[in-house]
Amino acid sequence: MIYQRAFEFARAMLSEERFEHSLSTAKYGYRLGKQYGVDPERVYLTGLLHDVARELPASSLLLHARKQGIILRKEEKTCPFLLHGKVAAFIVRKELGIKDKGVLDGIASHIVGRRHWTKLEQIVYLADKVEPTRVYPSAGIVRKLLEEGEFERALLEGLRNAIVYAAQTRGWIVDTETVVVFNEITKTQA
Ligand SMILES: [Fe+2]
Ligand SMILES: [Fe+2]
Repeated sequence: MIYQRAFEFARAMLSEERFEHSLSTAKYGYRLGKQYGVDPERVYLTGLLHDVARELPASSLLLHARKQGIILRKEEKTCPFLLHGKVAAFIVRKELGIKDKGVLDGIASHIVGRRHWTKLEQIVYLADKVEPTRVYPSAGIVRKLLEEGEFERALLEGLRNAIVYAAQTRGWIVDTETVVVFNEITKTQA
């Protein structure tokens, strides 16, 4: 039941293209959940809803954030787009009555990651970045690592790509949270 409502809600909030991306994130995340021992249905739901605030204008994201009492990080002040995860988590709790903290955290952290994040969050982060409609070359490398069961390496690669992409794109910023998470994992793998 909640899946149908979530499906309709995401479709109503998003352009066709971004809805397709959300559906693809949900389906790919479901597969990864099964492969890596995380409840695939919860991953699916998180993927389906992760971007519902993605098309709200910056002014609306900032207004939502203020209403929720979110203390803005420096990056979020510079680039309100980075709030669309946290705002989406708030919206789906309110509009769809979703209370599953794991799902809400997965929606909130999908853009830049989060220190001490759960496996579900990591899966959603990767599914968002490399679901099959993502065709940039490094997405294929991460998908291959995931297929081969190399989850930690895939995660490190996904985070590295995100940092490099942000640094190389004019007008973007590198979010320090992603750098912290990247360093945490690099340390783990040393
Ligand atoms: Fe997003
Ligand atoms: Fe997304």
